[in-house]
Amino acid sequence: MDLGLTNRRALVLGASKGLGAAIARTLATEGATVIAAARSEDTTRAWISELPAEVRGRVSAARLDLADRASVDALADAVLAQGGVDVLVNNSGGPPPGTAREATAEQWLQNFQAMAAHIFHLTGRLLPPMLERGWGRIVTIGSSGIEQPIPNLALSNGIRTAVLGWSKTLSAEVADRGVTVNMVLPGRIQTDRVVQLDTNAANRTGKSVEEVAAAARAQIPVGRYGTPQEFADVVVFLASERAAYVTGSKIRIDGGQTRSL
Ligand SMILES: NC(=O)c1ccc[n+]([C@@H]2O[C@H](COP(=O)([O-])OP(=O)(O)OC[C@H]3O[C@@H](n4cnc5c(N)ncnc54)[C@H](OP(=O)(O)O)[C@@H]3O)[C@@H](O)[C@H]2O)c1
Repeated sequence: MDLGLTNRRALVLGASKGLGAAIARTLATEGATVIAAARSEDTTRAWISELPAEVRGRVSAARLDLADRASVDALADAVLAQGGVDVLVNNSGGPPPGTAREATAEQWLQNFQAMAAHIFHLTGRLLPPMLERGWGRIVTIGSSGIEQPIPNLALSNGIRTAVLGWSKTLSAEVADRGVTVNMVLPGRIQTDRVVQLDTNAANRTGKSVEEVAAAARAQIPVGRYGTPQEFADVVVFLASERAAYVTGSKIRIDGGQTRSL
C-alpha cells in the first residue's frame, strides 16, 4: 500500500528516543522529510546517523524544550519559515509518577504547560499552512490512562484527558479543510519510560523490576509489551494519505490491555 507520504514534510516532537524516534524513523522510511525535535539534539543526531541506506526521506534534528514557550515559538518560527509541515506528531516527556492526593498545584501547572498548553500553542501556530493547502495530519500521543486511569500516574491521567478534549474539539473545527486530528493511546510499549515506571513501581512495592513487568504482562491479552515499531506503524498510517476519513478518534495501541468496550 502506498501511504502517499513521499516528500510530505513532518515534525515529530519528543523524537530523540522512544516512541517519537520510532515514528520519525518510520515516516522517513516512507519517504517523508522529517524534523525530529527534542531537548537533546545530540541524542537525536546519534540515531539519525545510524539510519539504514533504504530510508528514503531526510531527517534533521531540531532543539525543542516543551517546558519553555520561547523554545516552542523558536521552533514554530523556523518550521513556518520553511513553509510549515503536512504532518505534526505531538509528543512529550511523561510526567513523574505520583498519587492524585499528593500532586501539588505547581506539578499540575508545570506539567500541563509542557504536555498540553504548549502543544496546543504549537499546533495552533502550525495549522494555517495545512488549512491553506487543504491537507494536514495531526496525531497526538496520549496514554491508555485516558480510558482506564493508571494507579499512581495522576498527572498523566488528568492532563492527557484534557489533551483528548482539545484534540476532539479541534478535529471538528478543521475536518472539512482536509486536516485530520487524532490521538493514539499506548498501553505498554517497551521504551525507557516504561523501564523507569517499572523501576519506580519496584522500589515502591519491594518487588523486583522483573516481577513488576511480569505482572504487567499478565494484564495484556497479547502477553507482552509492544515494540516502538508496532506503535509507529499505526501512527504513520494515521499520518498517511490513506487515513483521510479517520478523524476525531482515539486509537488504542495496547495489545488489548484496556478492558472496556
Ligand atoms: N511507552 C509507553 O508505553 C507509554 C505509555 C503511555 C504513555 N506514554 C507516553 O508517551 C510519551 C512518549 O513515551 P516514550 O515511551 O517514548 O518516552 P521516552 O522514551 O521517555 O521518550 C520521551 C521523549 O520525549 C522527549 N522529551 C522529554 N521532555 C521533553 C521536553 N521538555 N521537551 C521536548 N521533548 C521532551 C525526550 O527527549 P529529550 O529528553 O531529549 O528532550 C524523548 O525523546 C510520554 O509522554 C509517555 O509518558 C508512553
